[in-house]
Amino acid sequence: MTRDTGCVKTGATRVTFGMRLGTIMLDVTAIRRDFPILSQLHHDGVPLVYLDNAATSQKPEAVIRAIENYYRDYNANIHRGIHKLAEEATAAYEGARERVRAFINAASSREIVFTRNTTEAINLVAYTWGRVNIRAGDVIVLTEMEHHSNLVPWHMLAAETGAHLEFIPVTDDGYLDLGAFDRLLELHPRLVAFTHMSNVLGTINPAAEMVARAHAAGAVVLVDGAQSVPHLPVDVRALDCDFLAFSGHKMCGPTGIGVLYGKRALLEAMPPFLGGGDMIKRVYLREFRPNDLPWKFEAGTPAIAEGIGLGAAVDYLTGLGMAEVHAHEQAIVSYALDRLHEIKGAHVYGPPARDRGGVAAFSIDGIHPHDLAQLLDRDGIAIRAGHHCAMPLHDRLGLVATARASFYVYNTEEEVDRLILSLYRAMDLFGV
Ligand SMILES: Cc1ncc(COP(=O)(O)O)c(C=O)c1O
Repeated sequence: MTRDTGCVKTGATRVTFGMRLGTIMLDVTAIRRDFPILSQLHHDGVPLVYLDNAATSQKPEAVIRAIENYYRDYNANIHRGIHKLAEEATAAYEGARERVRAFINAASSREIVFTRNTTEAINLVAYTWGRVNIRAGDVIVLTEMEHHSNLVPWHMLAAETGAHLEFIPVTDDGYLDLGAFDRLLELHPRLVAFTHMSNVLGTINPAAEMVARAHAAGAVVLVDGAQSVPHLPVDVRALDCDFLAFSGHKMCGPTGIGVLYGKRALLEAMPPFLGGGDMIKRVYLREFRPNDLPWKFEAGTPAIAEGIGLGAAVDYLTGLGMAEVHAHEQAIVSYALDRLHEIKGAHVYGPPARDRGGVAAFSIDGIHPHDLAQLLDRDGIAIRAGHHCAMPLHDRLGLVATARASFYVYNTEEEVDRLILSLYRAMDLFGV
């Protein structure tokens, strides 16, 4: 039995024709009604303005309901049971895997491994593929704009194996230096791993072009899709990447569930990650035979409710259309950049709106980003301040911290106006 995990009604209620971009735009008023948390009032009764979406997104009713339905109506462990509830739960969980496959256009659901998050997905590759394929002296190419999740696993692997890490530099305007990338490819790296979209600069990297160049040099390529899969159409067959990692909680889904996509031949050749129940076909006292893909990499009872919730999130985003999601965020970030640039003493980092997703990291002379975030919170505005798990990028920019506003399908220009007004109030308070 396949469960209805709460697909949204698509079409007229969510999508309208917008003049601004000359393209189809989202009906944000209708979308906002799907997210219960957005009707919350904060201090002094002001409505919440949630601009911390790069950290985690809010969840629509359909996702909350899908999780609740599982616990209320068919809670059971999966794969092993022969009773009705176990069959229903297994069908819903495996149905979610199929939804994720279709969402990123993978060739087979065997290529979709459920993990806890992006971080675990990247670690899985480092521990399994990495420990079999990386030797002393091998080169791994990363970039200066990586999240710590796509740095530290490779630091650990390099320390263990004697491999060398090399980095594609970031230019002053927030792009990857592709000329330098070509020179690094002359070292014939074993692996190239880079983020599709920066969680600080917002830069959308030319992933397909980079994968093609890396493959021509003989490298395996891992793409960190934590910020791209939730926000733009991502097609793994068009990208031709070997691995793609992303997290459910940044794309309207619950925490505790993420995805590793891997090309089947590579996944087949990799040893298992964690050992235990579910990841085996046969166990003897002194040995075991691993299970088929993808279960070979999913030891123990998985995050069942969370997987089902992710399936509902994928349905929700599919209903909106990822091209429309991306167009909406580019319109919002473009407006936000224009408004931020009007502020005297404000510095915005990263490329122009046309080359970025819905992320704007900035600073204001004379106010520490943490103070900014705290003052904005008093006005009901949630932004993030700090290094955003990208310390080396902040080193490169000569900064200790930045403030970051990040947008999603439910954010509006009016919310950007409230952000700007609140920034002016903070500046008044600091006398800058
Ligand atoms: C680009 C990028 N990679 C990886 C991660 C790690 O995601 P998670 O904490 O869900 O594993 C993040 C989270 O912010 C991110 O922005």
